[in-house]
Amino acid sequence: MSTDRWSVDSWRSKPIKQAPFYADESALNEVERTLAGYPPLVFAGEARKLKRALGDVALGKSFLLQGGDCAESFAEHSADNIRDFFRVFLQMAVVLTFAGSSPVVKAGRIAGQFAKPRSANTEKRGDIELPVYRGDIVNDLEFSEAARAPDPRRLLEAYRQSAATLNLLRAFATGGYANLENAHRWMLGFVKDSPQSHRYQELADRITETLAFMRAIGLDAERHQEMRATDFYTSHEALLLGFEQALTRVDSTTGDHYATSGHMIWIGDRTRQLDHAHVEYCRGVKNPIGLKCGPSLQPDDLLRLIDALNPDDEAGRLTLICRFGSDKIVDHLPSLIRAVKRAGRTVVWSCDPMHGNTISAGGYKTRPFERVMSEIRTFFAIHQAEGTYAGGVHLEMTGKNVTECTGGARAITEGDLSDRYHTYCDPRLNAEQAIEVAFLVSELLKVERAGMPAQVHAAE
Ligand code: PEP
Ligand code: CO
Repeated sequence: MSTDRWSVDSWRSKPIKQAPFYADESALNEVERTLAGYPPLVFAGEARKLKRALGDVALGKSFLLQGGDCAESFAEHSADNIRDFFRVFLQMAVVLTFAGSSPVVKAGRIAGQFAKPRSANTEKRGDIELPVYRGDIVNDLEFSEAARAPDPRRLLEAYRQSAATLNLLRAFATGGYANLENAHRWMLGFVKDSPQSHRYQELADRITETLAFMRAIGLDAERHQEMRATDFYTSHEALLLGFEQALTRVDSTTGDHYATSGHMIWIGDRTRQLDHAHVEYCRGVKNPIGLKCGPSLQPDDLLRLIDALNPDDEAGRLTLICRFGSDKIVDHLPSLIRAVKRAGRTVVWSCDPMHGNTISAGGYKTRPFERVMSEIRTFFAIHQAEGTYAGGVHLEMTGKNVTECTGGARAITEGDLSDRYHTYCDPRLNAEQAIEVAFLVSELLKVERAGMPAQVHAAE
């Protein structure tokens, strides 16, 4: 088990959930060998930098914003989509940074978020039963025998797309596009157009004033690199372990193994069994790791997982991504927090208000905006009561104007869902809804960060 020797393929001798069945195993092996010879997508030093940044989140000195598609797709791989997502994400980050008066760690569910865990192995339509869609890295969404057969060549396409996406993201993050003034201007555009603009106006005005003041004293983007560039990290669920193994590299400076498919990887709620393959793989790589925590996770199991994944209690190594549902969070989160506190472990507590709030309406999977917000509000309230930090949010969102989640300032109804329902898997917040979440979280964050006694920071 977790005390045994780890190797990059030790997961292969463990039981595994959610693994696709490839008819041609030798073709799969061949593709994995090819990938193993490709350059890494990210560098160990970047993953370490993210881990340090998350260490600050664990101590309440920063806030984690993580989000992106439920499932990236091959068909929607375009510069416009990446740009629109990045733009919305930056606007959210500006709002949160200002409200919390602390840095925001930015991690996209992007450049590798392709593999999906599913509740059944097959999908039935009428008399026809086919393998379920498991994400573009495995098979195709189209309901035909050929499309649904897992195809190893898709791993190569996922690598290619991840590399291209990452390349553009790096250019956006460092090439001037991420300029603080830009993000601020886009945010003002959002506020002007929002039917709820009065809610956001005050904060927006204060940011405008602050930036004007900064300009007046010479803190402008031309002269100050930190105002025109940002650190943007990538993350995805480490579900397809053959792909992850093929992209695992030994860091030459430390001799440690790193997953180089993305900066941060996480373990899904369906694959977090202590003695199974996904925990085994993740415990051996040194990246920051996320662990999805759903209603079935018991405090004792969580502590055992923490021991396996973060035995040295390294701050920033482990982010617990809580996804209980707005009606269940009060029954589950406090006991997990207490267990972690009692054990004296350091974690980032992040709230995924999406996966516990999925309902079906008129043939569509959707998520009511109010439930999403309610789970976030309760998450903050519980942390305040327990004396711990609500460290971040984990969202499924897009930069496009889709109609997949109901509610929000434009009051999308169940009847509207069919207009622009484009997701390959779970329903995402659209651009406006995502920015609304950022404004609402900013109110909570401001209270949290202002309300904490100063010595809590000093003692740490
Ligand atoms: C997801 O993040 O898309 C997902 C499947 O989440 P979970 O593992 O929490 O169900
Ligand atoms: Co999802």
